[in-house]
Amino acid sequence: MLNRIARSSSKLPRSPVTATKPNGRLMSSTSDLQAFGERHVTKGLGRITPGVMTKGQGSYVEFQDGRKMLDFTCGIGVTNLGHSHPKVSKAAAEQCMNIVHAQCSIAFHEPYLRLIEKLLPVMPHPSLDSFFFWNSGSEAVEAALKMARIITGRQNIISMQGAYHGRTMGAMGVTKSKTIYSEGVAPLMPGVFSIPFPFWHQQAAPPETPTSVLTTQSLYQLHLLLSQQTSPSDTAAIIVEPVIGEGGYVPAPKEFLQGLREVCDKHGILLIMDEVQSGFGRTGTWFAIEESGVRPDILVMAKGLANGFPLSGVVSRKELTDKLKPGSMGGTYAGNAVACAAAVAVADAIKEEKILDNVNERSNELFSSLLSLQSDSALAPYILDIRGRGLMVAVEFASSENPGAIYDPTAVAITTKIPKGIASRVAKKCIEKGMLLLTTSVYEVVRFIPPLNISKEDMAKGCKVFEESVREVLKEAENEQ
Ligand SMILES: Cc1ncc(COP(=O)(O)O)c(C=O)c1O
Repeated sequence: MLNRIARSSSKLPRSPVTATKPNGRLMSSTSDLQAFGERHVTKGLGRITPGVMTKGQGSYVEFQDGRKMLDFTCGIGVTNLGHSHPKVSKAAAEQCMNIVHAQCSIAFHEPYLRLIEKLLPVMPHPSLDSFFFWNSGSEAVEAALKMARIITGRQNIISMQGAYHGRTMGAMGVTKSKTIYSEGVAPLMPGVFSIPFPFWHQQAAPPETPTSVLTTQSLYQLHLLLSQQTSPSDTAAIIVEPVIGEGGYVPAPKEFLQGLREVCDKHGILLIMDEVQSGFGRTGTWFAIEESGVRPDILVMAKGLANGFPLSGVVSRKELTDKLKPGSMGGTYAGNAVACAAAVAVADAIKEEKILDNVNERSNELFSSLLSLQSDSALAPYILDIRGRGLMVAVEFASSENPGAIYDPTAVAITTKIPKGIASRVAKKCIEKGMLLLTTSVYEVVRFIPPLNISKEDMAKGCKVFEESVREVLKEAENEQ
């Protein structure tokens, strides 16, 4: 049998690029590694820039080819305290020398419990007192959905159009931001319904539409959904991001979140707040939901929680989690001791270094720089919207090619020639100029996710790079016509 396997595998085509050069030496140049990666890393993974990252320090990432880039992505909202924060790295390193894998179903470990001790006082509601840690945001969303079904004994879940909750099967089932995440994968998790998020695009309305109007429309659709498609008695949970991320960086109006709470209270539906991206100081408060005063039944967090160590958390109230049978939750690496020790240091650093104050100060500078671009008559026709909260900020460019453009008043009103794919072109230009920047959503949106402790100087630098990039892209597009 073994011989047969050996013989048949020897017929498999051999890879043209190997980990060592023909002279037996390890690959060292960027082009060698780039080619190796392109050959051997799945095509299913996209990247915004070629190259090999070698170092991350504070607000900067260094590449093997010598580039040093200002990081306005934070690795998609993760390294909120900057790369390799000394206090966080030290805590992780020390934990590595004590115990790395203190498996959570064998016994408690101290960093897990210390982390809960740190988190309890910063929870957006005192009822949130029962924790489970996992590795990624998607896994935490899976856990939240599973808990909601077990606790309520109901199956259906309502999510938001434009929502992103992850790429695993359940999380993907409630994700409604882009079809790429589930294309070709159906059947998706059954029992999922969605309503439009109160985002003007989703209601074919102009950006200046009052949030009260958007809220009414969305809550109206929720009531309709509960009468026409999923009975409240079959509905386990509503899952929502307080600032929708992959859907375009749109803060939910507080009246909308309060409306969801009322509906949940009336029908015994659980409200799951996905703060994977918006949590842990990103919006200027520990959690974005705080502003609305709304109490989540289940809160999901990840990303900034451990500043780059894989860690996510699901928090609920004991009265609910007591309904779970021991063994129904768990995971080999869940709540890893090194990641928990790092997260304890993150929580301390946020307080000691007055990170939330910095978020609010730098946020004002970012908004005022972006608004000044919008008030420049040469740029105004291209900038449709500037939005966000804290350091979770987006610029949406005008486009006549958005989905449903013929029904979209913003697209219909366009008289200026807008470069195709303008958001990606601007992000690419920023990268050429030494700043990492991401796009988001199915619209022409770039998102700013700088470190929460970014300096005034680096914020000014980032704003300058962005302005120059926008102007250059527009100039180049003009010359192309
Ligand atoms: C709001 C939200 N939920 C869930 C996830 C999934 O997290 P992960 O990529 O860690 O699985 C993300 C990731 O971007 C997210 O932004």
